[in-house]
Amino acid sequence: MPDLVRIRQSTAPAPIQLALHLFDLAAYEVLYRFSAVRRKRFFNGGYLPLAHDLRHPPDLAGEEPAAMMYHLLLCSMVATLAPDPDSILDIGCGQGGGLLYAHAVYPKARLFGTDRNRTVTRMARRALAGSGMATFTKGQNESIAFPTATAEFVISVGAPTYFGLGRFVAEAARVCKTGGIIAFSGGYRQGDHAMIEAELRAAAQVNTLIFHSYANITPNTFAALQADIPHRAAELARVPWPFRAYGWKWADMPGSAEYEEYATGRRADFACILRKP
Ligand SMILES: C[S@@+](CC[C@H](N)C(=O)[O-])C[C@H]1O[C@@H](n2cnc3c(N)ncnc32)[C@H](O)[C@@H]1O
Repeated sequence: MPDLVRIRQSTAPAPIQLALHLFDLAAYEVLYRFSAVRRKRFFNGGYLPLAHDLRHPPDLAGEEPAAMMYHLLLCSMVATLAPDPDSILDIGCGQGGGLLYAHAVYPKARLFGTDRNRTVTRMARRALAGSGMATFTKGQNESIAFPTATAEFVISVGAPTYFGLGRFVAEAARVCKTGGIIAFSGGYRQGDHAMIEAELRAAAQVNTLIFHSYANITPNTFAALQADIPHRAAELARVPWPFRAYGWKWADMPGSAEYEEYATGRRADFACILRKP
């Protein structure tokens, strides 16, 4: 999707930053309410290949690559830490697919979710109602809408870049319990892995966290994007003409600058694991 995140973190004048922030909010509102996204449990681009031990909860059928992004954070990248969390918090939880997946993996854990978008916070609450284990709060701005030491496992897919990495790590450190894990993923257009990792290492140090691991997942996210092109093209064919070209960019479709950045190695998607000692 078009990346306004770096601009928002830049020294652009306050009115421009405010306008971009409002644009972000409006764009998510339109997508969550009126596009095909409202029929799904996830709104991330996915990760391939699928792990052999990926769980298959019936609610998430057909969205395996997106579920795999959560599997990466909840299982694959933390396998050596052998997590057994009593509580999991998903920051930017979207429609609730990530917490549905977390419930399949860690059925005894209490679940917490927050998203700054009211529409999806409601959708997520409904999706998890059957678990009897989940609490949701609408977030706002760049603070996480939960108290200090809320969860043992703090996860986030796609939201950290909206906070800004330094701010996200500070807030995640606050809501994570002592001895807990913080696992997150995100991406930047024209990104540079060396810079992203250095920023995350510095943020970990400032917040007295242990830097466990960093992964360049761009080949995996690009593989998921390529596999999904026919499906995205079919969805976009139903979008009314004036919005279709914009949708093509949001969906990183071939011919868009976003797709070219993937194809020419200028896109940087990452996943990172931190621990709170
Ligand atoms: C790319 S979507 C990913 C949704 C979900 N994690 C998934 O993978 O399906 C990013 C989400 O982050 C949310 N978000 C962005 N900034 C946020 C903030 N400051 N606090 C809470 N949520 C935020 C957006 O509303 C959106 O739902």
